[in-house]
Amino acid sequence: MKVLIVGAGGREHALAWKCAASPEVAEVLVAPGNAGTASEPKVRNIEVGAEDVAGLVKLALDERVDLTIIGPEAPLVAGVADAFGARGLKCFGPPRAAARLEGSKAFAKEFLGRHAIPTAHSRTFTRDSFDPAWVRSQSVPLVVKASGLAGGKGVVIAGSTAEAVASAQAMFAGRFGAAGHEVVIEEFLAGEEASFIVMTDGRHVLPFASAQDHKRRDDGDRGPNTGGMGAYSPAAIVTASVHARIMREVIEPTIRGLAAEGVPYTGFLYAGLMIAADGTPRVLEFNCRLGDPEAQPLLLRLRGDLVQLCAAALEGRLAQVPAAWDERAALGVVLAAAGYPDTVRKGDVISGLEQAARLPGKIFHAATRLEGGQVLTNGGRVLCAVGLGASVAAAQREAYGLAQAVHWSGVHYRRDIGHRAIERGA
Ligand SMILES: Nc1ncnc2c1ncn2[C@@H]1O[C@H](COP(=O)(O)OP(=O)(O)O)[C@@H](O)[C@H]1O
Ligand SMILES: [Mg+2]
Repeated sequence: MKVLIVGAGGREHALAWKCAASPEVAEVLVAPGNAGTASEPKVRNIEVGAEDVAGLVKLALDERVDLTIIGPEAPLVAGVADAFGARGLKCFGPPRAAARLEGSKAFAKEFLGRHAIPTAHSRTFTRDSFDPAWVRSQSVPLVVKASGLAGGKGVVIAGSTAEAVASAQAMFAGRFGAAGHEVVIEEFLAGEEASFIVMTDGRHVLPFASAQDHKRRDDGDRGPNTGGMGAYSPAAIVTASVHARIMREVIEPTIRGLAAEGVPYTGFLYAGLMIAADGTPRVLEFNCRLGDPEAQPLLLRLRGDLVQLCAAALEGRLAQVPAAWDERAALGVVLAAAGYPDTVRKGDVISGLEQAARLPGKIFHAATRLEGGQVLTNGGRVLCAVGLGASVAAAQREAYGLAQAVHWSGVHYRRDIGHRAIERGA
């Protein structure tokens, strides 16, 4: 089989590595990939952009690709799965109509409401319908969200109603482009966050192991929001009973709701959840793809053939394929470039990758490129060092052992990934 992975980040390196491990797979193509995917056995990068839908379709036809897995959300929201389907190409990822669960937070809130799935109380506004008096009547903090795709930067936790009004107005004025033309304003939920990811064929659900990521740049979960500075699995907050509640109260009604509305969903479905102190899960958002960096520790733990799972899902028989999880915990630390999450410097030479390759664990590349035999930084989140261990604490030690082996000018990373689980004794 020939598999195509679309995307260029750490999630896509992990997907490519996992697919290459399948005995059924002869070759994995990655469009466009990075230096990590370029050096993986059985894997070849192709210079087609992740959002070049027509180019991707042509590539899959020319190369006779048997299965395509879409990494990032933008091509899904743009309809890449529909374009593949129209040409009879197998593509694991939801069609545009279903990807709206991520592409429009306003749509997701309406969907959640229609199906009585627990989430924060909210209202959606446009510039014309905006009602500052309603905002002033709410208690704070309030959460103000640009409805469209904003690369993880479109959410403001406002400590005052004045800040909430100003944030919404800035979004209407174009702060996030078209993504801010609609704005969701919602109640602030207290609790601990967890990422709950499943594979689905629209009827059957295969829950992935639980995971938790760290969005803030600095230790102690402080500092600016980022795309994610690290993640680990399992998330101690998702106990067996919380897991059962998430399945019953969130995932099952979501899949039933999509089916009832005639929206076919094949792909990864990611629910960003706030777990209250009593274990009640509430949906913060949906994503229509794997999380990055959650995918890196999750795929390291997946025992089973991802290619078989995706192929089965595309045939509506996901329930028939077994999947198991490594008993060990996995923990990934993101190594970022100078300046991240603001403007970053690119082109620094990364050293120590060969030494790191001899250590236990796995380094997935994100923003890297090859030049003249050297691996250079090529963006904000550069690498993700993932360790495995009998406990989250042991996985953390392995991950930091890897992180310490590599270096470039300006590299920085958090020292406390997994601290919540470790404080719980995990
Ligand atoms: N209602 C809420 N209450 C508390 N925190 C929230 C709420 N909604 C979002 N957040 C915080 O903001 C972050 C980003 O919001 P999210 O809805 O996941 O949007 P995105 O990932 O697209 O930026 C969440 O991970 C969470 O930390
Ligand atoms: Mg989120």
